[in-house]
Amino acid sequence: MGGGRLEGKVAIITGAARGQGECEARLFVEEGAHVVLGDVLDAEGSAVAEDLGEKAVYVHLDVRSEEDWAAAVTAASQLGPLNVLVNNAAVTHFASLKETTLEDYNRVIGINQVGTFLGLRSVFDPMKEAGGGSIVNVSSIDGLKAKNGLVAYASSKWAIRGLTKVAAIEFGRHNIRVNSLHPGGVDTVMGNPTGSEDIDLFYKNQPIPRCGKPIDIARLALFMASDECSYSTGSEFIADGGWNVGEFLPYLPSST
Ligand SMILES: NC(=O)c1ccc[n+]([C@@H]2O[C@H](COP(=O)([O-])OP(=O)(O)OC[C@H]3O[C@@H](n4cnc5c(N)ncnc54)[C@H](O)[C@@H]3O)[C@@H](O)[C@H]2O)c1
Repeated sequence: MGGGRLEGKVAIITGAARGQGECEARLFVEEGAHVVLGDVLDAEGSAVAEDLGEKAVYVHLDVRSEEDWAAAVTAASQLGPLNVLVNNAAVTHFASLKETTLEDYNRVIGINQVGTFLGLRSVFDPMKEAGGGSIVNVSSIDGLKAKNGLVAYASSKWAIRGLTKVAAIEFGRHNIRVNSLHPGGVDTVMGNPTGSEDIDLFYKNQPIPRCGKPIDIARLALFMASDECSYSTGSEFIADGGWNVGEFLPYLPSST
């Protein structure tokens, strides 16, 4: 049983068929929200919504499509006034800058960046009518720094910070908060594509020496979505096990 931290709220979560989005949908329902789950993986997404029962509904939502966004907003309006959006859907692409084709680049930007833009634009009117709300734009640690081999993804995740700040300034006077969430490594299909059981080893020199779990991120998304986060907008919320801070160097002294 949850603590009702989202009691009475209606949320749309994109990319909710699996991974962090699914975990957020489950936690939000547990905390009293009604949730519209959007994704392009219709079988998986419908199964999650069915499992969650009457407080959840699945819609096919390709975040690149304005029509799909309109349908998601309509589905949300049937549950009540829309208060929360989590722009979570994303894809990644590993290739050197030289080998990233225009098609690869546009695909990642189209889903991650343009999808977030369309989400912001699609929910503005209904949230304003609802009297306010909270939008969580999922960026990444790769939206705070960079890595080789991730040019399209990192560009899209940096852009999400910019989108967040402009939207925060414009929407703030309508009582709509907009913040970005920056996960570090998380054990999902994206963060652990081979499903390795030794994934924590990769993070052994991180301040918190393990890979993140979807619930580590979902709990932060819950806080950001809830009224507990009432005075934050345009801000960056990090849940990365300290990745962004620095690395533990085993050959230098440390507290034991
Ligand atoms: N896993 C990590 O290590 C990690 C790290 C930092 C940030 N993130 C971010 O966290 C978020 C969630 O990722 P995840 O780890 O759960 O990955 P995931 O791949 O398990 O989930 C992503 C979901 O987005 C959906 N999706 C893809 N294209 C879509 C589209 N066009 N329209 C709608 N849905 C679409 C997928 O079907 C999938 O269900 C993403 O924004 C990702 O960039 C992940």
